[in-house]
Amino acid sequence: MQAHQAGDLDRAERLYRDVLESYVAQPDALHYLGVLEHQRGRSEEGAELIRTALRITPRHPDAHNNLGNIHKECGRLAEAEACYRRALEHGPAHCNAQSNLAVVLEAQERPEEAFQAYTKLLQLAPRFAHGHYLLGLFLRNYAQGVEHIEQSAECFREAHRLDPGNVRALEGLGVSLYTLGRHAEAARVYRDWLASEPDNPVPRHMLAACGGAEAPPRADDAYVREVFDGFADSFDEQLLHNLGYRAPQVLVDALARRLPAPSGALDVLDAGCGTGLCAPLIRPHARHLAGVDLSGGMVDKAHLRGGYDELAVAELTAWLQAHPGSYDLVLSADTLVYFGELGPVLGAAHEALRPGGQVAFTLEALETEDDRSELSSSGRYRHTRRYVERVLGEAGFGGVEIAADTLRREAGREVVGWVVLARRGEAGMS
Ligand SMILES: C[S@@+](CC[C@H](N)C(=O)[O-])C[C@H]1O[C@@H](n2cnc3c(N)ncnc32)[C@H](O)[C@@H]1O
Repeated sequence: MQAHQAGDLDRAERLYRDVLESYVAQPDALHYLGVLEHQRGRSEEGAELIRTALRITPRHPDAHNNLGNIHKECGRLAEAEACYRRALEHGPAHCNAQSNLAVVLEAQERPEEAFQAYTKLLQLAPRFAHGHYLLGLFLRNYAQGVEHIEQSAECFREAHRLDPGNVRALEGLGVSLYTLGRHAEAARVYRDWLASEPDNPVPRHMLAACGGAEAPPRADDAYVREVFDGFADSFDEQLLHNLGYRAPQVLVDALARRLPAPSGALDVLDAGCGTGLCAPLIRPHARHLAGVDLSGGMVDKAHLRGGYDELAVAELTAWLQAHPGSYDLVLSADTLVYFGELGPVLGAAHEALRPGGQVAFTLEALETEDDRSELSSSGRYRHTRRYVERVLGEAGFGGVEIAADTLRREAGREVVGWVVLARRGEAGMS
């Protein structure tokens, strides 16, 4: 178990198997080997090992909790919920099970039950910093009034007070303060954070996002890596942030109306593939499906999800520039929101497409009539329709369609996005 905790999976696996050779039904070895199998991407084998352990020690809260985690990470939220409830039946003070229960209730969009579960968690463990952080996110996601955003700010403050290493709580605090219109206070949070960690790209980017510094043309590579490696490692937060997230589905539905019936004929790039949510949707159209993303942590998750022929950790514009005339479709869900200036990346996408090839992407909508983009307090950029039309035209695209749709929810409100489709002209045509 020490080797396992130290991340030495090979040694831990060997030792667990040694134990099981001399004692076939040793429940801890079965249980932790199950966790390890899941970490290696063999989730079904892992779940089966933990179930075997539970047949021997059916009242083991940790094993129920870990089986719940496998279900949760595989997206089986109802099964995960049942496991966490069983863990709590046998260990009513099991904080992690209580916290996980709250998370899966929230992810199943059952906010009242989730709120009760978070409240119970903080009664059980009032000094559990991560619990305050999760409640802060929950209150902001489901805010029905300004008082919920105020409470979320207090939760983030408390999370950071209890655990000064929890800098995500500072980001949460800054965003809540900005949402409340307390812009100077938000900027102060990021300035103080930057003063204590001058090399951290997150407070630098967020200070610009709340107007305290000049916005960069696109989010810095270091910022993107830091944020998304963090998300990838903690699936809980990812579920929370992705609440009501439907960009991949909306994008592929819109695209399907312009593509021939799926026949596995296209060379496709999933640009900013993240954990690979687009892969199962676009796979039926693809002969070759490549995914590229700056975050190694996200790409690891995409590997586990499967469905790609090729995955690479790379910066998107550079990747496109290095692959001229290579794709029939460049698809990008919720990634160009990290680009303020779209000219370079769309120019590169145009060159990476074959004549007649299509680009399809989502953006967050800046619903004014002028021609511009802006970095918003969330740390993502928003673009006006006129800006997108102009930049696509300058890059050489035609057949442009831009539709407004709801792509996610934030601070209790629906976020409107653009679903954009465009085509590279046939040779000789624009
Ligand atoms: C919100 S996620 C969306 C992921 C996926 N497309 C989806 O819809 O689930 C945005 C992704 O864009 C990636 N990203 C942002 N800027 C990038 C860049 N310049 N080059 C490559 N990837 C980038 C991030 O690492 C992150 O995984």
